[in-house]
Amino acid sequence: MKSGARVEAGGPADLRGALLAWYGKNRRDLPWRNSRDPYRVWVSEIMLQQTRVAVVIPRYEKFLNKFRSVEKLASARVASVLAEWSGLGYYRRARNLHAAAKMIARAGKFPKDAEGWRELPGIGRYTAAAISSIVFNEAVAVLDGNVERVLRRLLGRSLSSAESWKVAQEMLDHARPGDFNQAMMELGATICVPGQPLCTECPIQRFCRTRGCGKAGASKPRQLKRQIEFVLATDDGCVRLVRRSTDASLMPGMWELPSCEAVGSTDEVLFSVRHSITVTDFNVRVIAGKGIPACGGTWVKTSRLSGLPLTGLAKKILRKARIIL
Ligand code: ADE
Repeated sequence: MKSGARVEAGGPADLRGALLAWYGKNRRDLPWRNSRDPYRVWVSEIMLQQTRVAVVIPRYEKFLNKFRSVEKLASARVASVLAEWSGLGYYRRARNLHAAAKMIARAGKFPKDAEGWRELPGIGRYTAAAISSIVFNEAVAVLDGNVERVLRRLLGRSLSSAESWKVAQEMLDHARPGDFNQAMMELGATICVPGQPLCTECPIQRFCRTRGCGKAGASKPRQLKRQIEFVLATDDGCVRLVRRSTDASLMPGMWELPSCEAVGSTDEVLFSVRHSITVTDFNVRVIAGKGIPACGGTWVKTSRLSGLPLTGLAKKILRKARIIL
């Protein structure tokens, strides 16, 4: 390691040793950490791409119980993969996972290194490195937002993306790259957090130039607030639903309730729910469908809903209305 972290208290080997020892004692017991099976690790890394650990945990085993192997996933219908993904958001990940499963099943084997993983849809440099270092012990570093923040604080200066990748690679422990990568992520997620880092608990504090003083925490973008309305129309064991365009950038091809532009004075607001998508917090008013003409969509039998890829918001509304569990 040459890039300027404080090494006077010991060399890079000390930093690696301190971080790995801390990780060994403090690592969270996460379900995907009990295995080095490429399928299990790959699914976890895709789920974790844009979703918090706490949200992924309950969904992970459920997904693997439904699709027990890459072959099972490859032969599943995309609608059932999307249905199982519902609530995790960023549905393109599920489509890519499904497409990649077909490629792996066709090849009859998983890629054997990061370069091979990167050829699959939905897998960039970070994910390929995470999978390959964990599964095959390949010495390739990861860099995500957490690791970038750790490096910025450690070195006490901002780094370009190229520099960050270079420093991360120089720091990597070549004997235990998978553990080292996860230790860096863990440190960023639990100790070297944005805002006020917990420096007194940091295992590599003595190597750090800033020790919490640097302006390293990228401030969170402000959430936008919006009011929207959806129509809940039910009749004879059916509910009115609309399928999103398959070209939509968000949640393509998924089913949701018909939306309505404005609420009239005679409309009945059944209830409201709050829902956040990326940087927007929505207050969602659910309007009774009875008096609303031409709200669009088609009638769908409620008994069919469990097999349909519903958006997370549609599920939330249908649950609150006690139409689904
Ligand atoms: N985020 C992405 N991959 C992770 C992992 N393997 N452990 C913890 N957080 C992660």
